[in-house]
Parts: sequence; structure tokens; C-alpha cells
Amino acid sequence: MGRKIILDCDPGHDDAIAIIMAGVSEDIELLGITTVAGNSYLENTTRNALIITELAGIDVEVHPGASKPLIRNQIVAHDIHGYSGLEGANLKNPTKEPSKEDAVHFMARMVEENDDVTIVATGPLTNVALFAKMYPQLIKKVREIVTMGGGIAFGNVTPAAEFNIYADPEAADIVFKLDVSKTIAPLDMTHQAYIQKNDVIKIREFGSDILNTIADLLEFFMKTYREVFGINGAPLHDPTTIAYLIKPDMFEWENYHIEIELKGQFTYGATVADVWKVTKNKPNFRVLTKIDRKSFIDLLLDLLKKLQK
Ligand code: RIB
Ligand code: CA
Repeated sequence: MGRKIILDCDPGHDDAIAIIMAGVSEDIELLGITTVAGNSYLENTTRNALIITELAGIDVEVHPGASKPLIRNQIVAHDIHGYSGLEGANLKNPTKEPSKEDAVHFMARMVEENDDVTIVATGPLTNVALFAKMYPQLIKKVREIVTMGGGIAFGNVTPAAEFNIYADPEAADIVFKLDVSKTIAPLDMTHQAYIQKNDVIKIREFGSDILNTIADLLEFFMKTYREVFGINGAPLHDPTTIAYLIKPDMFEWENYHIEIELKGQFTYGATVADVWKVTKNKPNFRVLTKIDRKSFIDLLLDLLKKLQK
């Protein structure tokens, strides 16, 4: 039996790869997907999750969650993911509908029915914060929250803040204060997990329509990263959370106390990590600091290979 997870996401190209890795890996039991507004509007991220699960033959329900952040104005990342949130490939319309059970109620039911659920969050933390506020008594049953977000040394939406956190800092603040085992995959590590042209060539060499579609999506993602950030090779931020659950030994980590800046003129949404333990705050996160890129890409290709039909 694999690690039981709920994947809360905002697909998004890298979320899409995370969905596939979680759905295909025998080391993961994907209980369901919950969607949140983030890279694009909720109806788009939900539709994209349905498209990807059907494309990859992953038989799980998609539970829509929050369509807006808790307090701040909504932002999206169409410059990276396109208006639909998943531009760059010829994708079939989904045939399935989203579940009638919303994200927060699904999270609560899964945590009530299972003793060791891990919540993996690869978008803004709005759904996870709402779950924690509505069902505080269930938090102690959650095995771990693994989130892609934040940046110790830098941001990507502002110099100080990373997109998932910046899109809903008040939600992140609620989640970061939860008394539960928490692991974070910040930009400092995820930018080591970049995919490059020759990796995409290997995916195309598998020679299947599904994998060519995934290669098309990855090439779009690489193109926007080149245009927006001027970097060669797109960081596969979200899939690193799944790789951590499957093969933690490809990572290095430290334990830091991290807080969310909610007031700064230049630093709103920053993840402020006490790296040198200058406060007396007990570390509240396992912070993934390094990843072995070759092991990560090898894992990705091994899992994608299972899709070729
Ligand atoms: O900053 C990168 C994160 O923001 C990733 O999760 C990406 O999908 C976007 O949601
Ligand atoms: Ca995401």
C-alpha cells in the first residue's frame, strides 16, 4: 500500500506533472485531487485536473475548492501557464464532471476515515487553511503537510515572495502555524529540479501520443520560463513534493522556523526563515534544501514511461 495523499493543486504545468507522478507511482495512494484558484481561475484549474487525470488514466475524483484567496485580491500566473492554465498542447475536453463534494469536505472525510493522510499542497494554501479552520479537531490526525512554496533566499513574483504564498499569504500564515508535521519545497531547492530540452527529447523517444502531449506541455512551460525569467530549463517545482514522498534520499533538508510576512511594503508574502536560529522559535518546518537532479529526472522518466500505451 502506498503513502495516502490528497493532492491540493492549481494545474498549472508543473502541478500536472505532479498529478501524473502521484497517480502512476505504486508508492503513492492518491485518495483524490482538490483544486484551488492559483495559476488560473478555479474553473480552469479544475478543468485542467480533469483533463490530466483522464489523459493519464488516473481514476480519482477532482474536488473543487476555493475560487478566491481569503483576504487579498486574486492574482494568477497566466504569463507562465497561459490563460487556460495549461496552454501548449492539443488537449481533449474532459468527459467527467468535478465531484459534487467540495475540497474542504473531501479533506475532512478522508482524514476522518483514514489515520495517516498526507496533504500535498502545490498551489495557494486557501483550501488547506479553510480545512484547518473548519475542522481544527482533525488537524492532529493529518500525518504531514508537504507544500511547494516560499523561498528562503528569493521570491519569483516579488523579490521577496513566491507565487503560492503571495497568492494567499493569510492562508499560508494559518497553515504555517498549525501544530502538525510540515515539510516545504521552496524555490531555493525547486530551481535545482529543472527540466531541459534533452530530457523532453527522451520523453518523445518513448513514442506515445500521451507522452508527446506531455512533452508539448513541458516545452510550453520551458518557453515561458525562458521568456519571463530568461532561464534555460524550467524548474519542476510541484513534482519535487511527490519525489520527496517516493524517494526522500534524493533530498537534503534542514529544520527551520518559518513565518509569513503579512505587513511589509516590499516583503508581503515572504517566507521568513530563521536559518541561524537567532530567535528562540522552535523549527516548524522540514525545509528541503537540495535535490539530486539526475535522480529526480530518472524518477520522472521512469514514471512517465508507465504511461506509454
Ligand atoms: O512558484 C511556483 C509555484 O507557483 C508552482 O506551484 C506553480 O505551479 C505555481 O503554482
Ligand atoms: Ca502549482
